[in-house]
Amino acid sequence: MPLPPVLVSRHVPSSVLELLRQHCVVDAHDGPSELPRDELLRRVADKSGLVSVLTTRVDRELLEAAPGLRVVANIAVGYDNVDLPAARARGVVVTNTPDVLTDSVADFTMGLILAVTRRIVEGDRLLRRGGWGGWALDFMLGAELRGKRLGVIGMGRIGSAVAARARGFGMSVVYADPATARGAREAADNGVRVSLDELLNTSDVVTIHVPLTPATRHLVDRRALARMRRTAYLVNTARGPVVDEEALAWALRERLIAGAALDVYEREPEVHAGLVGLENVVLAPHLGSATRETRTAMAELAARNVIEVLAGRPAITPIVREARGVR
Ligand code: GLV
Repeated sequence: MPLPPVLVSRHVPSSVLELLRQHCVVDAHDGPSELPRDELLRRVADKSGLVSVLTTRVDRELLEAAPGLRVVANIAVGYDNVDLPAARARGVVVTNTPDVLTDSVADFTMGLILAVTRRIVEGDRLLRRGGWGGWALDFMLGAELRGKRLGVIGMGRIGSAVAARARGFGMSVVYADPATARGAREAADNGVRVSLDELLNTSDVVTIHVPLTPATRHLVDRRALARMRRTAYLVNTARGPVVDEEALAWALRERLIAGAALDVYEREPEVHAGLVGLENVVLAPHLGSATRETRTAMAELAARNVIEVLAGRPAITPIVREARGVR
């Protein structure tokens, strides 16, 4: 039997390519940037498998261009770049990479929470421009985490891991799951479930861990931001469009909230101009899962999913239903 052909749309570790090559004929795009769209469509046309990343748009057009495609393995836990119903209609299995990145994203989220509440990045900037006049009792005071409340929007795997870390810092935790049935996760030892409005009204740090779906697009808009405390911080390591960036720039400018820390943006790699100039915003370039260990584990899991499906076995981490509000 000839080995099935697979396209890898972006650079992956060589160990992962070697693994794939044991089971498939691999066409790998190894460049630092995205394949031009027409080249992607041309190269996917005769493939049985596609290893995609979150910047690869796997839409109806791509699926139609690749009639023999049987599996799309997205190297990400999020899969808003994949048209799931269109894939399903064609019998294409779609997989993601849950679990392997939970700790690295939760660690990074905690890092952002500390960075913005303790003004670490702001202090670094000030020091580099020669603005530090020396120690003073009241210099660059931030906010303490102990005794404060963390509001987790989306108590899935990553939200739970962030909650566990925050408890280690002495925070209490409330959570809201905007799109899941009330009570679905009530038994989980994750904190107190409240309405989204109550979470926004009462939390000192609000952290977002919902997937991007039509229901969560601009979930944090002007109205939501206006409900937050003036001393509160917003952190987003989920997907950029969950927050209305225009509204966030407005809320920060009007000092309706104390600060924000973002890893994701509405139009990556662009960042809203109204956020870039603000001192009380930490801006990271989508690094949530970016450790050598985790990124390798993600790529390897995607490869294993492709190998399993093309061998006629069940996928390891198939996306079985469209996410509604939690991940
Ligand atoms: C990264 O953003 C992911 O979804 O894995």
